[in-house]
Amino acid sequence: MSVETGRLPAEGVRAMFDRIAPVYDAMNRTMTAGLDRRWRRLTAEAVVRPGDVVLDACCGTGDLAIACARAGGRVTGVDFSERMLERARRKAPELEWVAGDMLSLPFADASFDAATVGFGVRNVDDLERSLRELRRVLRDGGRLGILEITRPRGLLAPFYRFWFDGVVPLLGFVEVRYRTFAGGIVALHTAKTELLGSDPGRSGRRQTP
Ligand SMILES: C[S@@+](CC[C@H](N)C(=O)[O-])C[C@H]1O[C@@H](n2cnc3c(N)ncnc32)[C@H](O)[C@@H]1O
Repeated sequence: MSVETGRLPAEGVRAMFDRIAPVYDAMNRTMTAGLDRRWRRLTAEAVVRPGDVVLDACCGTGDLAIACARAGGRVTGVDFSERMLERARRKAPELEWVAGDMLSLPFADASFDAATVGFGVRNVDDLERSLRELRRVLRDGGRLGILEITRPRGLLAPFYRFWFDGVVPLLGFVEVRYRTFAGGIVALHTAKTELLGSDPGRSGRRQTP
């Protein structure tokens, strides 16, 4: 579930998630009346195919990464909050959990078949750079699923349309779509990376030194 961090600098965001890690899961279940589990499952099912090498960025305590594993992915979760990661490791020691910043992902180009971000993009300093990083680590023809609070109506709506219909395609994503859950409380944004003539087969995950 999204946590409003206002315009905190990255270090403030990291420290805040370290602090709320012990109560984060309980907060999620309560604030969404348990619906968050279903949203994460639908996100995983929308982008993960059995055998995919999957990145879950801003993985937090790991629930979306675990949903991606249940959908058949071989999953790596990355987050910059050690306390959130500790909980993820405890829940699913069989998955790979990496400490790292979404703005500078510690993985080589084209390492993943699919990537997900659950309630994470609104907390990052630089959304465009995050999307560029996700594009970089996804192979051509890879799939992206971003679960986030809904696209606002009213005054901000034209800005969002400009962002998702105008800017995101320029970052190398195509078939940018969204669907809403729970009467529009949250939205799942999906996209594919362009096929640029390189091998669209499966990725081998590579971590940068
Ligand atoms: C609201 S939580 C979402 C956790 C999880 N994805 C979920 O669905 O519950 C946001 C997470 O993003 C992480 N985060 C925020 N900015 C980040 C960044 N620049 N790099 C890595 N992780 C980041 C935070 O540490 C936090 O664990």
